[in-house]
Amino acid sequence: MIDEIRVLAGDAVARARAAGTLDDLRALEAEVVGKKGALAGFKRRMGSLDPDQRRHVGQALNAAQWEVADALGARRDELDQAGRRSRLERERLDLTEVRAGRDAGHIHLVAQVIEELEDTFVGLGFRVAEGPEVEDDWHNFSALNFGEHHPARDMQDTFFVDLGAPGEVVLRTHTSPVQVRVMECQPPPIYTVMPGRVYRNEAADATHLAVFHQLECLVVDRGITFGHMAGTIDMFTKAFFGEGFSTRLRPSYFPFTEPSAEVDVRRPDGSWLELGGCGMVHPNVLANCGIDPEEWSGFAFGFGLDRLAATRHGITDLRDFLSTDVRVLEQF
Ligand code: DAH
Repeated sequence: MIDEIRVLAGDAVARARAAGTLDDLRALEAEVVGKKGALAGFKRRMGSLDPDQRRHVGQALNAAQWEVADALGARRDELDQAGRRSRLERERLDLTEVRAGRDAGHIHLVAQVIEELEDTFVGLGFRVAEGPEVEDDWHNFSALNFGEHHPARDMQDTFFVDLGAPGEVVLRTHTSPVQVRVMECQPPPIYTVMPGRVYRNEAADATHLAVFHQLECLVVDRGITFGHMAGTIDMFTKAFFGEGFSTRLRPSYFPFTEPSAEVDVRRPDGSWLELGGCGMVHPNVLANCGIDPEEWSGFAFGFGLDRLAATRHGITDLRDFLSTDVRVLEQF
């Protein structure tokens, strides 16, 4: 009987190792170690044996039971793992598929314009700088010569951040505070452009967004004149838009420049695009940043980039820049 048990166990172990599915394993388990299985059959036959034989047969049955259970368990683990692997394989998402088939995604139009403008100015010998979008009153207003009661500090234009003293921290309303930061950390000569995101507390419509983009330019050197500024703006316009474009300056007012002007770009068809503001850096601003206005002079300008990008691509509603509609996105 002991031999029979060993043969049965050896056979069951071999079949367990060769089992191809979990169902096969379950069937084998029932057939050999289950309540009505072959080993149980031997157990029932033990009753007719004498005590000594019964002990030996009992030991052989126990050993066979463990051996077969081990083999079943090991094979079950293998099949489980293989099953998991093949399920993972089946459920795998091929995220490269879209890219291989066609061009998926692109740089946002405004980011494209920023990159191009940076290239243009770097080509003219400028550096690129950035500043924080959450600003303090000093950089966004005070250092730029905004009087304490200047209307631009009004709640209607400025998003205030609930931090520090009331009104002390704002979302920057323009990129001009980066001028202050650049002047505070380096001595002249300065030839720097500063692109970035700015915030105004305004309702969005076709020509206004509460979050938009500007490019600031600052030059501080000895003997800088209004002529240098006009020439730089014209040169950059031709480099960026093409030879058919020109610029004009209209007198204007900004607290941080004196004199100040608005810049318009003339398109080849004769129409005008309002680009932004410019002027000679106010002596108070230079002094606020620790630069001697008797020795140094400078010019600055700040352009809105969203309208520029929109004009270039025939976009008539700035809110389309925030669209997630593929029909809009796929066009560019
Ligand atoms: N910061 C101004 C604005 O957002 C634009 C501007 C005007 C920037 C004149 C300048 C400047 O650098 O010189 O309306």
